Amino acid sequence: MGWNWMRITFNLVPVSLSLLLLLNFATTAKAQGPTYVYNICSDNKTTANSLFKKDINTLFSSLSSNATANAEFFNTTVPGTNSNDTVYGLFMCRGDLSSCGQCVVNATQKLSSDANCSLSKRAIIWYDECMVWYSNNRSILSTMFTRPGVYLSNTGNVSNQESFMKLLFKTMNETAKEAAKSPVLEKKYATKQANISGFQNLYCMAQCTDNLTPRDCASCLTEAITELTPCCGGKQGGRVLFPSCFVRYELYPFYSSNALAPSPSPSAGLVPPPPATNSSNSGGSSGLSSGTIVAIVVPIAVAVLLFVAGVCFLIRRRARKKHDSAQDPQTVTEISSIDSLRFDLSTLEAATKKFSQDNKLGEGGFGEVYKGLLPSGQEVAVKRLSKGSVQGGEEFKNEVELVAKLQHRYLVRLLGFCLQGEEKILVYEYVPNKSLDYILFDPEKQGLLDWTRRYKIIGGIARGIQYLHEDSRLKIIHRDLKPSNILLDEDMNPKIADFGMARLFAVDQTQGNTSRIVGTYGYMSPEYAMHGEFSVKSDVYSFGVLVLEIISGKKISSFYETDADDLVSYAWKLWKEGTPLELMDPTLRKSYTPNEVMRCIHIGLLCVQEDPADRPTMATIMLMLDSYSVTLPVPNQPAFVVHSGTDSNMPKELQFSGATTNVSVQNSVNEMSVSEMDSR
Ligand SMILES: *[C@@H]1O[C@H](CO)[C@@H](O)[C@H](O)[C@H]1NC(C)=O
Ligand SMILES: *[C@@H]1O[C@H](CO)[C@@H](O)[C@H](O)[C@H]1NC(C)=O
Ligand SMILES: *[C@@H]1O[C@H](CO)[C@@H](O)[C@H](O)[C@H]1NC(C)=O
Ligand SMILES: *[C@@H]1O[C@H](CO)[C@@H](O)[C@H](O)[C@H]1NC(C)=O
Ligand SMILES: *[C@@H]1O[C@H](CO)[C@@H](O)[C@H](O)[C@H]1NC(C)=O
Ligand SMILES: *[C@@H]1O[C@H](CO)[C@@H](O)[C@H](O)[C@H]1NC(C)=O
Ligand SMILES: *[C@@H]1O[C@H](CO)[C@@H](O)[C@H](O)[C@H]1NC(C)=O
Ligand SMILES: *[C@@H]1O[C@H](CO)[C@@H](O)[C@H](O)[C@H]1NC(C)=O
Ligand SMILES: *[C@@H]1O[C@H](CO)[C@@H](O)[C@H](O)[C@H]1NC(C)=O
Ligand SMILES: *[C@@H]1O[C@H](CO)[C@@H](O)[C@H](O)[C@H]1NC(C)=O
Ligand SMILES: *[C@@H]1O[C@H](CO)[C@@H](O)[C@H](O)[C@H]1NC(C)=O
Repeated sequence: MGWNWMRITFNLVPVSLSLLLLLNFATTAKAQGPTYVYNICSDNKTTANSLFKKDINTLFSSLSSNATANAEFFNTTVPGTNSNDTVYGLFMCRGDLSSCGQCVVNATQKLSSDANCSLSKRAIIWYDECMVWYSNNRSILSTMFTRPGVYLSNTGNVSNQESFMKLLFKTMNETAKEAAKSPVLEKKYATKQANISGFQNLYCMAQCTDNLTPRDCASCLTEAITELTPCCGGKQGGRVLFPSCFVRYELYPFYSSNALAPSPSPSAGLVPPPPATNSSNSGGSSGLSSGTIVAIVVPIAVAVLLFVAGVCFLIRRRARKKHDSAQDPQTVTEISSIDSLRFDLSTLEAATKKFSQDNKLGEGGFGEVYKGLLPSGQEVAVKRLSKGSVQGGEEFKNEVELVAKLQHRYLVRLLGFCLQGEEKILVYEYVPNKSLDYILFDPEKQGLLDWTRRYKIIGGIARGIQYLHEDSRLKIIHRDLKPSNILLDEDMNPKIADFGMARLFAVDQTQGNTSRIVGTYGYMSPEYAMHGEFSVKSDVYSFGVLVLEIISGKKISSFYETDADDLVSYAWKLWKEGTPLELMDPTLRKSYTPNEVMRCIHIGLLCVQEDPADRPTMATIMLMLDSYSVTLPVPNQPAFVVHSGTDSNMPKELQFSGATTNVSVQNSVNEMSVSEMDSR
């Protein structure tokens, strides 16, 4: 019996597209269920009405029910009425998971419904989270099997292949040794992490089925590790999957690191030993046509990427949740009386040295802003509104009272007002680090904002706007979101300024038409700039522009001075060419996380779509930033971009429309290949 090594390599999708697919798939795979990887089913079939088929069904329900009852590994036997229809089967959860019931349920469902598998006498199916295997050969319960097997590799190359492979083998050997330590019938699983460079890590995983002896486990893993060279030499990620064991490595953490120590598993003795059996088939003959492989490659790519993303996100989200609950102050604090909001003109004059030029912080659309020092020692920003506001005194007071109630971590807090004679003054908390534009667009200073900070700023702005739109009682549309209205506190957290101005200035705040345009060109959505139509979706547009600016470190207006496309068209062009990361500010190169940058560019492009209905709401954006449980649609061409006729076909192709999606590769950074080691 020999083995045929079939190697089929597919160019799959560049990072951008992968990410897209991944995001489109996120719902299916993360929120709704486990991630399918691959299956192999024997060509030896039984018949639909056979006893064997009935036994397979019994086996499946036994596996599923035990998996659902939180077993991590389980083997079982369904003794048929004669030796020819006895079925042996097992499942195993990936070692870092304490249960994988849904995965086993899905896996058995898939095996029963797949036309090429449902009548197979032997089959194995891999998911990211679990493996299910059955056979008519009793040996699978006790013997080590390394066939049939599958290679999966990321076709992205690592830069220093020789030293990388050395490190990989060293780390993988250690991982395998650790995994094989546990005695028979206990979990055999280990992960290890190694330093590739100061900022890049290698993550390795090895696992055997519990029923192997330490010795068998070690030799299974050794064989798997040997296959890493033909499988995945010099690649950024790879797996060798055998029935009895597997190894996997990636450059990102794809498992939860708080994995439990190996623990005994409830696997043995639930069913009486089966009668000795014979099988008329010798040698597993199984296979998938290349057509089938094509059909599964995309899901594999998606699976791998998804898994990364999923794990990263779960971890991050967990971390963030903890962080938030510890840190988020109560978002809304009631302010009891209007009088506590009222400031004397004389106090403010003293605080600002009579509005001296030295104290001037800047000048906004509604008036000049001064720094002030109150007698209590509190620093404040004092905004002296330009005269001729249409608001009468009483309404102004009422509005201040309302707006002052909007208190949120990511909003600049309105402390009070002064209304004396002609003077209308607003008093805000003082935010020390000036505004975002001051740092972001200054070549000397923009290095202060590394990717982690920028990512936090994007998240903070989104949260602040969401609060204005949805959580606050007032449902405020900001209408003038731009970097100079995003202030930065001492920890570089963003704080949105100048919200509620339209309210204070008695501009109609309900959705509709206005003749009074409050915004700033470049940041204004086309429908607002051209027709005065505004809605929460106009803020979403401005947010999208902000995101693109934060990533690129370039002002939207900086493009107007040159003949080049504007920032939005430029981002769209790069996106379509499959090179969106080129948008990134070069100073970020050292620190960025490609997935996060990609996701933010994607979100940015969704926000600047021409049709307001296509733009996501801030709540959706928060979900997109927070987790992969939300599907990111493919962005349409943004507003203001000259339509060139031929380029509109691209986004459609990006859409994941089935297993045979044929994506042309422009800049293939993250391709995937799959090979099946087949028996013959
Ligand atoms: C897997 O399970 C989930 C959750 O029940 C379900 O939504 C999904 O459709 C299943 N997938 C398959 C392929 O059966
Ligand atoms: C199993 O498959 C092999 C090759 O496909 C075939 O030679 C053999 O006869 C089959 N056995 C049974 C019992 O179907
Ligand atoms: C596990 O499977 C066995 C049959 O193999 C069955 O008797 C038992 O009830 C199952 N356990 C659970 C918890 O479902
Ligand atoms: C699981 O496999 C072991 C090893 O072959 C065997 O002794 C045991 O009976 C099996 N358990 C079941 C329920 O078949
Ligand atoms: C088992 O299968 C073999 C070959 O397929 C057949 O010759 C034999 O009669 C079968 N035995 C029973 C008890 O069905
Ligand atoms: C089943 O296998 C055949 C050939 O082996 C292949 O042409 C067909 O596409 C497969 N069907 C499915 C649903 O995988
Ligand atoms: C990776 O390296 C191989 C040769 O080692 C080359 O053929 C292939 O094009 C490279 N792939 C990428 C994505 O650079
Ligand atoms: C890993 O283990 C294999 C087999 O035990 C051995 O041949 C190889 O030299 C080891 N590699 C490293 C880097 O330790
Ligand atoms: C990883 O490497 C960097 C420098 O290359 C070093 O500072 C750091 O301590 C290393 N971390 C571990 C866990 O080895
Ligand atoms: C197994 O099959 C052989 C012939 O194929 C037969 O002689 C033997 O009795 C069978 N054993 C059992 C336990 O069925
Ligand atoms: C069952 O598997 C073992 C181990 O691979 C193999 O030696 C044996 O021939 C198989 N038996 C049958 C009946 O296929």
